[in-house]
Amino acid sequence: MTVRIGDVAPDFQQESTEGRISFHEWKGDSWAVLFSHPKDFTPVCTTELGEVARLRDEFAKRGAKVIGLSVDGLGDHEKWADDIFETQGQRLNFPLIADRDRTVSTLYGMIHPNANDTLTVRSVFIIDPRNVVRLIITYPASTGRNFEEVLRTLDSLQLTDRHSVATPVNWKHGDDVIIVPSLKDPEVLKAKFPKGWTEQKPYLRVTPQPDL
Ligand code: BEZ
Repeated sequence: MTVRIGDVAPDFQQESTEGRISFHEWKGDSWAVLFSHPKDFTPVCTTELGEVARLRDEFAKRGAKVIGLSVDGLGDHEKWADDIFETQGQRLNFPLIADRDRTVSTLYGMIHPNANDTLTVRSVFIIDPRNVVRLIITYPASTGRNFEEVLRTLDSLQLTDRHSVATPVNWKHGDDVIIVPSLKDPEVLKAKFPKGWTEQKPYLRVTPQPDL
C-alpha cells in the first residue's frame, strides 16, 4: 500500500514505549508527526531521537504530537533510550513504536526493498487534525533529517489552513508569504489581508505573514 498526500492516514494498533497505541485514538484531533528509523543502536538515529526529544515542546506549541518508529522490540527501545540520554542528554519524551512485525512500516510504505528489504527508510508523515496526510518526506538511512525543517513545514501547512496563503522558496517564520491564486474576490482579499499585498503578477501576490 502506498500512502500519499491527501489520503487518510491508516489507523493501526502497535506496542510502543508508552504502551499499546491505537493510532487515531492516541492522536485525537491534534496534528501528528510520525517518523521512522532504520534500526535501534545506530548512530544517526540516536542523534535524531535526541533532537526530537529536545524539540518536543516546539511541536506541542503547534498542536502536534510526535511519534517515532523502529522495527526493533520494546526491550531494545528501552535500552537504547538510556544510550540516547547518555549521549544526547535527552530522555525519550514521546512514544517510540516497536514495529517488530512491521505492521506499521508496511502499512505506510516505510520499507523500500531496493534500498533494504528489512529496515525502514527515514520517513516523515505530517498528519492533520482530520487525519489527512499533509506532507511526506523520505530520506535514506545514511542522512539524518533536519527537524527544524519539519517544524518549518508544519508552520507552513498551518498558515495555509488558517490564512489561505502559501509559503515561497526558503520561507521562514516572519517572512512574507504568497496569497493562494484561487483567492480572487476583491472584498475577501481586503478583509483577509488588511496589511495589503504587492501584485508582482496576477498569480504572484506577496503579503506580510498574516498572523504577526
Ligand atoms: C544510522 O542511524 O546511523 C544508520 C542506520 C542504518 C544505516 C546507516 C546509518
